[in-house]
Amino acid sequence: MKLKKTLEKKINEHRPRTTRLLKEHGDVKISEVTIAQAIGGARGVRCLVTDVSYLDPFEGIRFRGKTIPETFEALPKVPGREYPYVEGFFYYLMTGDVPTKEETLEVVEEFKKRRQLPQYVIDVLRAAPTDTHPMTLFSQGILAMQRESEFARRYAEGMSREEMWEPMFEDVCNIMPKLPVLAAYIYRMKYKADVHIPADPDQDMGGNFAHMMGIDPPYDDVARMYFILHSDHESGNVSAHTTHLVASALSDAYYALSAGINGLAGPLHGLANQEVLRWVMQFEQKLGGAEPTEERVREALWDTLNSGQVIPGYGHAVLRKTDPRYTAQREFCLKHLPDFPLFKVISTIYKVAPDVLKEQGKAKNPWPNVDAQSGVVQWYYGLTEWDFYTVLFGIGRALGVLTNIVWDRALAYPIERPKSVTTDMLEEAAGLKDSSGS
Ligand SMILES: CC(C)(COP(=O)(O)OP(=O)(O)OC[C@H]1O[C@@H](n2cnc3c(N)ncnc32)[C@H](O)[C@@H]1OP(=O)(O)O)[C@@H](O)C(=O)NCCC(=O)NCCS
Repeated sequence: MKLKKTLEKKINEHRPRTTRLLKEHGDVKISEVTIAQAIGGARGVRCLVTDVSYLDPFEGIRFRGKTIPETFEALPKVPGREYPYVEGFFYYLMTGDVPTKEETLEVVEEFKKRRQLPQYVIDVLRAAPTDTHPMTLFSQGILAMQRESEFARRYAEGMSREEMWEPMFEDVCNIMPKLPVLAAYIYRMKYKADVHIPADPDQDMGGNFAHMMGIDPPYDDVARMYFILHSDHESGNVSAHTTHLVASALSDAYYALSAGINGLAGPLHGLANQEVLRWVMQFEQKLGGAEPTEERVREALWDTLNSGQVIPGYGHAVLRKTDPRYTAQREFCLKHLPDFPLFKVISTIYKVAPDVLKEQGKAKNPWPNVDAQSGVVQWYYGLTEWDFYTVLFGIGRALGVLTNIVWDRALAYPIERPKSVTTDMLEEAAGLKDSSGS
């Protein structure tokens, strides 16, 4: 595969940079840690390295140096469609090079060969109680396949650190194409009377996913847009950091991704997209058919805050403006579904919520994040089972976190092990007590 050859070349070019930084400049300080950061989830502490994406608080995400519109513009598009091949984006994330159409199509074909789910994964899914959350099934399906790991097999045989990226890359290329197939199986087993649609040999990843879900075009483009937008948000978010942390113990990609997906299932992280829909539906139920005016939305938002809950889809640990992933989806809605009532409610929330959050004065970022807009697009195309939304996020997120763990092995990043302190030590550092404890 051209992708693998290009990646190998990039790795060989990159390795001396990391080695030199470590050997010659290892004691240069890039961050200091305050008590607030130690207690407060390491917010803003610079202690992770990735070149796959970078999140500027005001500009938002850049994938390998390109903004979201630049990324969509640069990559080869599926003929007759508005959005690029996800496979071409995977090539781009992995290498930093925009692939040609031929290089993209080679990945498309390779992924088709590797996308079949083993029967035992289906058996595992079917053995779960019917009320099991789709994210649990998704994580279990990934973990069940761990026995296939090339990395684990080669490690057991004995392999050098320099070689490790290669079986990691093979595992990643075996996992990635199976994820949309696994997700579609879970969806149809849970919500579509357990009737399944076989893969279409002519379709790319996004197209085949829409096909196996049983949703007509342009849902194929929605899937491509959605997977690319959700792919990566640098290294510190829960799903990316968890995947990286677990892989740092030389756990293979199956173990690491399954763990990252479990983190994505938290309501403060990926699950917020289902929470947004739940919030809107409860709000509409309370309205009982009355117009969702700005005044009524404002009241409902205050009710949520006053009952000690967060406004889902708003705020961010790093961003300090409207998330460009929100904007990209909003533009899609303005083009394809401008009059959809649910989109209008979401737009009214966008008008009102930032001022409400500013007035409350707690959230550092009163602007919407990616999750505030993503459910409405899914709903419009008939995917109304919001419990499933975070699985879609998980397919996309895998593109980024799996790329990162290939590079982690390529650059031989060590096992992660930050140091903890005790509350006594913090009180001492703050001058509240001396070392005798008084
Ligand atoms: C994303 C999120 C977890 C970031 O958390 P964070 O980095 O701690 O955010 P902040 O530093 O701005 O938090 C400061 C305070 O504002 C509150 N806050 C932040 N966003 C809020 C929101 N959307 N609604 C209500 N309160 C919010 C926090 O809970 C915190 O309150 P506390 O001081 O009582 O603990 C947070 O904004 C949130 O819970 N958002 C809603 C869930 C969501 O959309 N998640 C998806 C993120 S992509």
